[in-house]
Formats: sequence, C-alpha cells, structure tokens
Amino acid sequence: MTITVEETFNKEGMIKHFTIENKLQTRVKIANLGATITHFIVRDKEGKDVDIVLGYNPVETYFDNTDTYFGATVGRSANRLANANFTLNDQEYKIPKNEGENNLHSGPTGYQIRLWNVASYSPEDQSLTFTLNSLDGDQGYPGNLAISVTFELTDANELIISYKGISDQDTLFNLTNHSYFNLNGHDQGTIENHLMELKADTFTPIIDSHSITSGEMREVTDTAFDFKQAKTIGKDIESSEEQLVFAGGYDHNWILTEPSMDTPFAVVKGDLSGIQLEAFTTLPGVQFYTGNFLDHNKGKDGKIYGKRNGFCLETQYFPNAINIDAFESPILRANQEVTTQTKYKVTAL
Ligand code: GAL
Repeated sequence: MTITVEETFNKEGMIKHFTIENKLQTRVKIANLGATITHFIVRDKEGKDVDIVLGYNPVETYFDNTDTYFGATVGRSANRLANANFTLNDQEYKIPKNEGENNLHSGPTGYQIRLWNVASYSPEDQSLTFTLNSLDGDQGYPGNLAISVTFELTDANELIISYKGISDQDTLFNLTNHSYFNLNGHDQGTIENHLMELKADTFTPIIDSHSITSGEMREVTDTAFDFKQAKTIGKDIESSEEQLVFAGGYDHNWILTEPSMDTPFAVVKGDLSGIQLEAFTTLPGVQFYTGNFLDHNKGKDGKIYGKRNGFCLETQYFPNAINIDAFESPILRANQEVTTQTKYKVTAL
C-alpha cells in the first residue's frame, strides 16, 4: 500500500492530489479540493487498467464543480430542501436557492469547492483524512461544525468513506459522495446496459420535475423502480411512468431494506468490462441518479460526457427529510459526535 501526493499551487491555496495504491494495483486518486475522488483505476479481467469514475482535469477544474458534482464530498446537507428553508428547534433557517425555489446540495458555496485540510497521512498508510471547519452560519446552517472525511482503500479493493461530524449547536449533517461510475470505463459511453440489483422495496416519489419529495413511500413492485431482481439500468428507463418523465430518467431516493456495511445494498456490473461494484452504507437511503443532465460535459483525457454516461449511488438521509415528519431527520445534536459510512467494493469478474 502506498500513498503519493502531487501539489499544485493556486491563488486559492495548495491543491493536494493523492494517489492511494493497494497490492492489486488499484489506484484511487483523491484531491483535498472538495475531498473529491477524481480517479478510481482498477484492473479488468484481462489485466487492463480501467478508470471507473467520471471526472475533470486538470485538478483546478474542480473549483467549478457546482453543476455535475463529479466525485465530490457534498454537504452540509446533500440533495434538496424544498423552498430553500427548514425549521430546527422552532427556528426557521433560510438557505440559498440554487435550483428554482429549492436548495440543492447546500447551495453555490458547497463543500465540493472548498480546499480541505489534510489531517495527516503517511506513505505507508492505506487511508487519508481530510478535515473542514464549517463555521456557524456557513451556507446558512447553525453551529460550528467540525468535519472529517476518511478514505480508506483496502487490499480487498474496498473504498471505505467515513464521515465524522461534531457541532456546538444542533444542526444538519447529511454528507454524501457524488461519484459517477461507469464500470466499462469513464470514456465508454452509456451505462444503460449495466446490470443492477438494488435491495429496496420502496422509494420516495417526487411531486414534479423539481424532484421534491412529499413524504410518500411507494412500493417498487410492478414499476420501473423495481431492481430487486437484477436488470439492466436501461430496461425501463424510457418508460412513460410519470416519475421517470419528471426526472428524465432515474434521479430518485430508494429506501434501503437493510443498511449495512457487511451486506451490499446494490450490486452493479459493467456489461463490457465485467467489473462489478458493490455498495454498502450505514445510511437509510440512496439517490440513484443516471446522469440524465450530462450534456457535452468536458471531462478527463479530452472525453466529452453525454447523457447517462455515468450513474451515482449517493447514500444519504431522504431528500427534504428535515421538512417531512415521516422521514428520519439528519439532525446532529450539539456536542454529540456522529459517524456515517459508505463502502464501494470493486471486483473484476
Ligand atoms: C444529483 C441530483 C440531480 C443532479 C445532480 C447534479 O444528486 O439528484 O438532479 O442535480 O445531482 O448534476
């Protein structure tokens, strides 16, 4: 296991771009800019290197990562808050609107464009920790929040992401990673032929094209949202179901049957590469997003990404949960440290 670092000076500060490599020669590249996963390079069954995440280069480009959120750590509150406000302890908080009337991924100054501190690492380590002090009032949220995000790559090809937070006031804590995977390779076009199993009996429908949830939890059986038995991502994606029309494809939160770090909630396989991704989490939900809004995005190695060239499994509390009684709220109580975890495990079959 090794960790190496490349440093780039920028007017905003020093960008540190780390590469963690394990004994299977898997290399995960992560930048302190946005605590962002920029590359995830694994060997396929023929021994060829395949980079399975979409991204940008050069690394400074991530200062503009406010549209796709490629690979980023998103917070303090991932996904949408209706009307860009919420009430906590009887006090109303107004946060910036950046998607119509709503707040998406905490607004225009999200954690994905911050330079995070590098807590410590040594070349022999297999993990890397970034920290960020998000002050009281940052993005409109209450409480001085101390965050750490640790990325650990194991020799079993597992990337484990641990989010830790502690605040001096009650606040929201709902961090996610926004990697777009393409298991055939980031430059290999659509993910619609990937095979996916998602262990969820219900999802949270949206009320219109602004992707706001109402509190309803709907059964997936007999709908395009049923991935309990593996099927290709594209099989039903163009169906006329209203929910798919609203979002232009999948861009919804599924309620996980059994959040666990031992049993995957999703298993996805690249049809061309045979590379398989298993996803695990301690969190109650996952936003499965099929890159419906990608449209001529200029990515790594000169590649132009188009619609559905990647998929995201954004583990999280349910969208808009703080505003909906039926959903568990992502409230972090003052002076109580919390840790949430997500793991992506890759196998070349
Ligand atoms: C997803 C969101 C999508 C889109 C995307 C970023 O988390 O659900 O609607 O906004 O982020 O482009």
